[in-house]
Amino acid sequence: TTPFRLGIAGLGTVGRGVVRIVAEHGAEIATRVGRPVEIVAVSARDRRRDRGVDLTAFAWEDDPVALARRADVDCVIEVMGGANGPAKALVDAALAAGKHVVTANKALLARHGQELAETAEGAGVALAGEAAVAGGIPALKGLGEGLAANRITRVFGVLNGTCNYILNEMEARKAPYEAVLADAQRLGYAEADPSFDVGGIDAAHKLAILAALAFGTRVDFEGVVTEGIERITLADIETARDMGFSIRLLGLARMHEAGLEQRVRPCMVDERSLIGALPGVTNAVVVEGDFVGQCAFSGPGAGEGPTASAIMADVLDIARGAVRPLFGRAATALASAPRLSHGDE
Ligand code: NAP
Ligand code: HSE
Repeated sequence: TTPFRLGIAGLGTVGRGVVRIVAEHGAEIATRVGRPVEIVAVSARDRRRDRGVDLTAFAWEDDPVALARRADVDCVIEVMGGANGPAKALVDAALAAGKHVVTANKALLARHGQELAETAEGAGVALAGEAAVAGGIPALKGLGEGLAANRITRVFGVLNGTCNYILNEMEARKAPYEAVLADAQRLGYAEADPSFDVGGIDAAHKLAILAALAFGTRVDFEGVVTEGIERITLADIETARDMGFSIRLLGLARMHEAGLEQRVRPCMVDERSLIGALPGVTNAVVVEGDFVGQCAFSGPGAGEGPTASAIMADVLDIARGAVRPLFGRAATALASAPRLSHGDE
């Protein structure tokens, strides 16, 4: 049987996790998919760095674009990061060369997902991004496939693991957020630029992707009203707790008659609710559909294992032959919705 051949661009937290899953679960994956799934080539900046995984069987490409163009690669996994620059060049090159693309890059999808999805659909290849939203939780599959028959009324949740970790750890350790952010970075949760996490931008990227999928609207990252957790103090967290609340960085998207409301901001949430009780780096995505009612998906929102798990779920889908539109419908069919600004709702 013909193997399904992967090229991985990026060997940091997530890329390493993908190498580990293929090494440890290769035989089971082949059985599930009906064909072997193999890594043939990898790329990162520093070839000499010891990454704690065995790369000797794979071809090395210094240039990620060259990896995308290799004749022996069927599917490119983009786990470098960044909305533009090398990640965008790599994905453009891969789609132009007729390769499937799996990415964890929410910044890229929030900025260019629309155009990239149109290109992928035109080329008849998959562009998949489960890992881009809520780490290991199959939120896009749950929303886009499991709830596909519903009209979605609202989607909200905790979409950034680093912030949830910081808010929990500040309280547990009685420490300011700068001190616990360093741990979130060490654990591989934070973005290369952690101001994207604490400033709410990462959650806004994810919310814009979720809203496009939920409401069939064009991805509108600029329309997300965003506030981060930088100004939340330990005293704020403790005061909220005294009253029975947790502080959470919530993302919410809701369609109103007048337009689409998208916002990310710290909120006080009942400490006994699903969202109020989320431990550590856990995320939750709550979706309301007209026929199903309310569904909640929760689980690890960041880190090597959970994110690689989501990447590989997409890879298995594609290796089985599934080429689904990223936003649940043709990207050209996404509608424009007027933005509701802060306070309009
Ligand atoms: P990371 O640890 O910083 O790794 C990035 C990798 O990309 C590194 O191996 C780096 O090479 C490589 N790279 C960067 N620029 C490159 C270039 N110009 N050419 C070649 N290689 C380049 O990042 P990460 O945490 O794995 O995240 C990767 C992506 O996944 C990002 O889009 C992030 O937002 C997303 N994501 C991360 C998580 C998470 O929990 N970490 C969860 C969901 C999604 P060197 O190692 O040689 O420097
Ligand atoms: N930095 C992100 C987070 C990674 O903490 O949620 C997962 O997308």
